[in-house]
This record gives sequence, structure tokens and C-alpha cells, in this order.
Amino acid sequence: MTWHSAQDVTCTCKTADSYNVTEKGEHGACRCDKSSRVNEGTRWILHLVIVTFALLYLGLRLYTSPPSKILESQADEFLCQQAAPITPSKNKGLLEDLDDIFATRDFQLKAYESLGGAIRIPTQTWDDYGRPGEDSRWDVLGKLHEYLESRFPFVHAKLSKTVVNHYALVYSWKGKDASLKPVLLTAHQDVVPVEPLTLDQWVQPPFSGYFDGEWIWGRGSCDDKSGLIGSLTAVEALLEQGFEPTRSFVLAYGIDEERGGIEGATAIRDHLLSAYGPDSFSLLVDEGGGYGEENGIIWSQPAVAEKGQLNVRMEVDTPGGHSSRPPAHTGIGILASLITELEANPHIPHLYRDGTYYKQLQCHAEHDSQLPATMRRIIKEARENDVALKQLETELIASLPAFKHIAGTTQAVDVIAGGVKVNALPEQAHVIVNHRIADYSSVKELQAHFADVVWPVAEHFNLSLDAFGTLYGDKSAAAGHVQLSDAFGNALNPAPVTPTSGDAYEFISGTILATLKRSFRERESKMRAVVAPGLSLGNTDTRHYWNLTRHIFRYGHQDSRDCYNGAHTVNEAKRATGFLEMIRFFDLLILSADESSLL
Ligand SMILES: *[C@@H]1O[C@H](CO)[C@@H](O)[C@H](O)[C@H]1NC(C)=O
Ligand SMILES: *[C@@H]1O[C@H](CO)[C@@H](O)[C@H](O)[C@H]1NC(C)=O
Ligand SMILES: [Zn+2]
Repeated sequence: MTWHSAQDVTCTCKTADSYNVTEKGEHGACRCDKSSRVNEGTRWILHLVIVTFALLYLGLRLYTSPPSKILESQADEFLCQQAAPITPSKNKGLLEDLDDIFATRDFQLKAYESLGGAIRIPTQTWDDYGRPGEDSRWDVLGKLHEYLESRFPFVHAKLSKTVVNHYALVYSWKGKDASLKPVLLTAHQDVVPVEPLTLDQWVQPPFSGYFDGEWIWGRGSCDDKSGLIGSLTAVEALLEQGFEPTRSFVLAYGIDEERGGIEGATAIRDHLLSAYGPDSFSLLVDEGGGYGEENGIIWSQPAVAEKGQLNVRMEVDTPGGHSSRPPAHTGIGILASLITELEANPHIPHLYRDGTYYKQLQCHAEHDSQLPATMRRIIKEARENDVALKQLETELIASLPAFKHIAGTTQAVDVIAGGVKVNALPEQAHVIVNHRIADYSSVKELQAHFADVVWPVAEHFNLSLDAFGTLYGDKSAAAGHVQLSDAFGNALNPAPVTPTSGDAYEFISGTILATLKRSFRERESKMRAVVAPGLSLGNTDTRHYWNLTRHIFRYGHQDSRDCYNGAHTVNEAKRATGFLEMIRFFDLLILSADESSLL
């Protein structure tokens, strides 16, 4: 994911105090803060603390960015009813055979080595890459393709492989019944680069792919070569058993997810749109989400929503001159005032009855027996009662910092530059402000908010303003100018929210629950599991796939403890048994989808 935040992983913070905030940084770093409100000890806050843990655990392990309006038909109907576990009946024997095969050491070691071998091919992708076919730095992906061919002979014999834009991969596995909508499984081949300065901090070298008996080490082990190799291993295992699908399946693997999928996912999208048409897939599963234990329950959270993003470049242009005769405020001073005003007017998060965040809360109210009764009551009341909804929102804003990060639009002033010399007044100064846009908002709404906040300040300093093409004031009569623009031209609206009622959601939920039931891991098989809809704070390749299906799930079937230290940072490692569960999930999904009437 462009997780520029690590999606797969939950940070856990433990201190003597009762309440920690766990955050996932842009590059997968974990941060723990103690809440200043912890010791206030009100019932309300305590209640919220418990929910916070759960929400952080579930929500923040997602990576980086956003989505759009929620369907009206879903409103008010969400009660977090749980699907029954779905296992195949026609393919039942095959599934049982696979269970036996997965239990053999031979299969396990071969699968772990498949992942290790892929990690050893360093498919790092940098932001400054030219186009595939022109910039030779992409060519390492060719080595990965050769490796995949040698490692997955059945896949390469039985599926039809199409290479798009030089290195993106699409495998079509044609089913017998062309009237069934195919299922699309996606992952990415690229990994974020390893910072050379951190090499000595790695327990095992970052491109070793070393299996130490518990962990498989290296860059990409969590993000996202486990998704790539896991899905291919699952298909290879089915083909080895002679499985021939009724439904068609498509596997698609991007090449630059970590920089927005601009070459890979876009080419895959165009290919799939022309080969299959719009809205032609029954279901799409990409990286993201995951599951984890909380209050004695395994919470599994496929992300149905994804935030949008906008990086605003705000530039102040003022006349230059000699520093000996300065105005009261230079362009840099004015820029500082503009930033101060922005930070004094952050986005206020909202709790919407049909929003994903409120759905998560309802799952806790419905299934978490350790949630205090008052909390449960107000969450349930808010389903119909506007006063209760507002009260809940107010409390979340006051007591739960994570609420605004997960549910709201965020802004962060991240880059600043201006001025060239101490004896010259700065003619130009600028900042770049990163925004993650809430699923209920939009790029347009954010731009309007930004302009509304900065215009009074610009006017005060006698500057005109161009806010994303809309002019304020008279540029020719002003003492200077403020220019707002999309810094990198990659503005993104929040993703359309995947319906959480209906067949596809029931199918993915039932498949997750069935996989957990069949898990090797005792802990999981004995504990009750609940599926709740998740919200992704970062963007994956799915940002380009909206038109392929309405049913996009960002979900990597892994426990929050299956990654040693998160993604995008030092000591990325995947728990081997967790990798096995991913393979099991893919196989169960394929076998169930093959015969399910839900899709
Ligand atoms: C704004 O700046 C212009 C250009 O420097 C100047 O002519 C004008 O008087 C200023 N207006 C105010 C209200 O200060
Ligand atoms: C989906 O298709 C519409 C209509 O062709 C297009 O305007 C839009 O940009 C597409 N969205 C994505 C995310 O590709
Ligand atoms: Zn990823």
C-alpha cells in the first residue's frame, strides 16, 4: 500500500497507565502517547478508552489514505449481524485435502522458501523512476518474473499471463461458466526501499528472505510479497490437485503501488476494463485490513472505505528588495501567519449514522461483552436518536484523539521552503500541507475550506488569492499574491464505500470466519471471531480499480502480530504460520467463490 503508512500492522503500546494511544506513522513507525485525560477517570472516558483500544487495534493498522458518499440504502440498517462461516460443499473434499497438505512440513518449508526467494529479489521502487521500458531500474522486475515462472509451474502452464506496461502482471484463470462474474485478487510486486543507514539495525539482512524457524525476514515480507506469493501459492496448490474452476479468477500484480500505482495499477485497470468491461468483477480483494485479538474476541476488519488525499501547495509571492528596508512582514512572516490560521482551524470530525466509523462502533456495541453498558446503550440509541448521535460525536471528539484521525479529514504541514539569502527579502515562500480526506467529504469540500480559512489572512496583508483557480481580490492592485494548488497533481477523492449489506460483504465475512475456524492456531480456533467494516487511512492500488467492481475489500488475512515490526521500516518480517494462514484464506476464498451463489 502506499501506506506510506503500514497497513498490515498494529502497533501496541503498553505502559503502567491504563491508556495509550497507538499510532502508525507514515513509514510504519509506531508511536505511543499517554492520554492527558486518562486520569480524569470519568465513566465516559473509561468507556471510550476501551473502545479506543479496539478501534485503534482494528483501524490504525491500516496504512495511508481515502473514499466517497455512502449509499443511502445502507443507512440505518447496519446492525453488525455476522455471516455464517462459508465453506464449499462441492469442493469440500478438495479443501480437506488441502488442510492435510498445509499441515505437512514439506509444504510449509516450500511455501516459506517461495516467499524468501521473492524477498531476495530487491524490487525497490523509487519516486523518481522514469517510465518502464525507458528507465532500466525497473528491469529487476524481470528477474522476479523469471523466479515466479520457475517457482509456480502449474500457474504458468494453466493460467494465461498478460504482461502490461512492461512489468505489471495479469493472470487469467478461465472458469467453465462464463456467465459467473470473475473474482479479482490483487497485490503488488514492488517494495519500499531500504534506507542504507539502517542496515545495521536489521536482525537479518533486509533482502535475505531468511527463515529462522519462526519469522521470514526481509523487505516485502509483510508488504506485499506475502500477498503476491501467498495468492500464487494458493492457486498453485489447487492446480496441483487438479482443480478446474467453474468461476473465472484473475490475479493482478502492480509494480509501483508504493508510489501511487501510476504505472502498474493504471495499466492493469485499462487492460481489465478493455478485456472484461466496467463493473465486471464480483469481488476484489487487495492488501490491507487484517485481524487481531481484543477483549477475548478476534476482530477481523476488511477495509470497505479508504480516505482521499490532497497535498496543498500554498505559495506566497511578495516583492523582493534589500533586507535593510524590510516591510513589517516578509513573505515568510505572512506564510507563518497563514499556517497559524490553518492550524487554528482544523477539520472537525463528524460521526455519521451511515458512516463506516459508526458501523465499527455498532459492531462493538453488538458483540463486545466487555464494553460498558452505558457505552453500548448510547451507541445503540444513536441508531435512531439524533441527540444520542450528537452526544456520542461530542464525546468522541473530546476524549478520543484517534477518532479525528480515523473518521475525520486530517491536515499536516509537512514541507516548507523560502528565501535564498540573508540580505534579500524572500520573493517566494511555500509550504505543502498533506490532507487525508474523510469518507464523507471530498477534494472540493476540502479546497473550499482551505480557501475560507486563509483568505481573511491574505486580505489582511493586502494579498490576492488564487485558490485552485478561483480568484479572490485584485491581483494587480495587491501587494502580493497567495497561490493554492495541488502540489503533485494527485488529488484523490475518498473511495466509494463498499456496501456492507448484501451478498459480497456476507461472502467475504463468511470466508474470513471459516478460515479462522480452520486455522492451525488454537488461539484462533477457540476464540469467537467478529467481522467489522474497516476504514483505510492510506491508499492502495485499489484507488485505480473503482470502476472494476463496487465490492472492493482491502484485506490481508493476517493477525496484527504476524508482522515483526510493521512495514516500511527496519526489521520487516512475517510470521511463517501467519503466512500459511494467508494461503489458507486465499484457497478457501477461491473454492467458496467457485460455487457460491452470493457472488
Ligand atoms: C495594497 O498594495 C498595493 C500595492 O502595493 C497598494 O497600492 C495599496 O495601497 C495597498 N492597499 C492597502 C489597503 O494597503
Ligand atoms: C471511472 O469511470 C468514470 C467514467 O468513465 C471516470 O470518469 C472515472 O475517472 C473512473 N474512475 C476511476 C477511479 O478510474
Ligand atoms: Zn502494500
